[in-house]
Amino acid sequence: MVKYGIGSVLFVTDPTEINRLQHLAVEKTRLHIPLIFGFDVIHGFRTIFPVPIAMAASWDPAVATKAQAIAAQEARSVGIDWGFAPMVDIARDPRWGRIVEGAGEDPYLGAAMAAAQVRGFQGDYIGAPEHILACVKHFAGYGAAEGGRDYDASYIPESQIYNVYLPPFQAAVNAGVGTVMSAYMDLNDVPATGNRWLLHDVLREQWHFTGFVVSDANAVKSLKNHNYAKDFSDAALLAFNAGVNMEMAIDFSAYQKNLRALVNDGQITVQQIEAADRPILEMKIRLGLFENPYNDEARSQEILATPEHREAARLAAERTSVLLRNEGNLLPLSKSGFTNVAVIGPLADSQMDILGPWVFQYDLKETVTVLSGLRNRLGPQTNLNCAPGVQISRKFPSFFDDILHLKPEEPWGSDKAKQEMSKAVDLANSSDLTILVLGEAQNMIGEAASRESLDLPGRQEQLLEAVVATGKPVVLVLMNGRPLNIKWAAEHVPAILEAWYPGTQGGNAIADLLLGDAVPGGKLPITWPRDVGQIPINYGHNTTQAPENQGKRYWDEESTPLYPFGYGLSYSTFQYSDLKLSHTQLKPGETVDVSVDVENTGGTAADEVAQLYIHQQSGSASRPVRELKGFLRIALQAHAKTTVHMSLGSDELTYWSSANKSWVTESATFDVWVGGNSNASLHANFIVSQRGSDPGHSQLK
Ligand code: BGC
Repeated sequence: MVKYGIGSVLFVTDPTEINRLQHLAVEKTRLHIPLIFGFDVIHGFRTIFPVPIAMAASWDPAVATKAQAIAAQEARSVGIDWGFAPMVDIARDPRWGRIVEGAGEDPYLGAAMAAAQVRGFQGDYIGAPEHILACVKHFAGYGAAEGGRDYDASYIPESQIYNVYLPPFQAAVNAGVGTVMSAYMDLNDVPATGNRWLLHDVLREQWHFTGFVVSDANAVKSLKNHNYAKDFSDAALLAFNAGVNMEMAIDFSAYQKNLRALVNDGQITVQQIEAADRPILEMKIRLGLFENPYNDEARSQEILATPEHREAARLAAERTSVLLRNEGNLLPLSKSGFTNVAVIGPLADSQMDILGPWVFQYDLKETVTVLSGLRNRLGPQTNLNCAPGVQISRKFPSFFDDILHLKPEEPWGSDKAKQEMSKAVDLANSSDLTILVLGEAQNMIGEAASRESLDLPGRQEQLLEAVVATGKPVVLVLMNGRPLNIKWAAEHVPAILEAWYPGTQGGNAIADLLLGDAVPGGKLPITWPRDVGQIPINYGHNTTQAPENQGKRYWDEESTPLYPFGYGLSYSTFQYSDLKLSHTQLKPGETVDVSVDVENTGGTAADEVAQLYIHQQSGSASRPVRELKGFLRIALQAHAKTTVHMSLGSDELTYWSSANKSWVTESATFDVWVGGNSNASLHANFIVSQRGSDPGHSQLK
């Protein structure tokens, strides 16, 4: 480090080692500039929170802010100053493993979650005590990888870049994010890490970003693999000129090896190097690293052990779960109604899997599985028995398994596989109730974890069908980070709870939800397809030709999803009424207040997420059938009613028109719907017009 002049170190998490390296930088280097320590603090550090897609399912930005503030405090305590999150890539293809790291398909929800996470990581300002610098990633378009194959090229039309893929990044920049990570893949044939349009024109000129850009790991050197750069020197030059301030590199760095020569050759000036360095130094200064370069090792142990952090993780897990089905109100379970309960499935008692991907500093001793959560809640009077039923594993191993030192289980031979399946089915048969915990193992999702199928991996579907065939009541708890093919379950399993990967306290939270001590209030942040062949499917599509046949675009399957975006049930019911608009006609730039009454019509105090959708009926470009433009999660006592207000102003009514190549607010009639999911039917409309009443087509802005 002293020899090579390295200014930042990644992936060191031991506070003693961090201090040792920092002493070297501060005391032994020529300029005594402290190091900045970066790490993937994605959904927790020691306390593991629900995965980001789950956080989005809470539709509660405050919960994301709180979780990331705790993650920041824990990370900062050991000496980590900089986290590589939030990941805000819009993802509309569940085959892509990294869908789990973002907020799903929608730019409005994505923007809200992006800003909320930046506030959590960084606090009120960069350098706020016990916070870290955030890094919004992966700029931009990574989520549109062709075929959902991780790292593959993205081809995104300009209108979708501006209207769909960029808004969460811009929201993070507006929230003050200090750093941006450039993405790996080609965007419309220009690699994101060498893409001056993205890194300079959009980021610096349009958005006035003043922090620094770091490349994704090895992405600068990869410019050569892309057949974009001639060699590593060219790669360094292209990335530098595009606007990458810092190269993240494993083994060797193209910048470190080539920038000096590029300056000597006159291809880069010293002034340009200084200009690229300045925002990095500025962040080190603002983080207070010059005054306080070292961590307090004893204090870090206290922070990591804070019980309130685990409690926050449990509450977050409760708020993120989504109830997908509840026939005959099987849930919540009555605490005394079942004496013998079977807990079945490969994920039922797996501490590692309940944590999800992107976990490194977890403590398995304090990780609560579904089985142990139920045991904690039900006590000795309930006889709980567990059987995995099947084993699941990847066909091709994950490189994270090596990083995490995970040893794959010895595969069961076919005799053992048969025995385990029958053991589980027998157990279901002899129990009053079965809780099945199925889904994907934690290494089946995340980076380099794409799939070509959405089926439950392994023989989980057979297990599910055999358990349901016993005729005993069955609750399916899903643990996954992407929609899976649950077509059969959605018709035959009475209760389905989407738990995502709920983290350290996941088991306790799931037990609370199943037993009614907490009420599910999450909603899907992604359209749930019936099967893989429907992909891409998202609620915000265009109407196009023959809208009356929209649900029948295929002859062999409906073209509607299994569950719409924004969907989620509760143990209570809600009624929306009295939708009112403050204006029915307005001029561009004016705001309309939308109000609606929401009543909890059931007998249980519960949360509901009121969602506001709009549709522009005509314009210089076709507009999506619906677009989310407001939401609010509210808590309502049984039979209570409240009035929710949301507003629509120029931010909500403006879009990038590919016809006009600019942002426009157009004269048109706008539909408004408010309700509990993207199929909401309570409707009103208003007109935007220069003259106040005429819905013409002219461009007004
Ligand atoms: C991922 C980034 C991550 C980086 C450092 C890359 O492979 O794409 O999201 O921050 O590694 O771990």
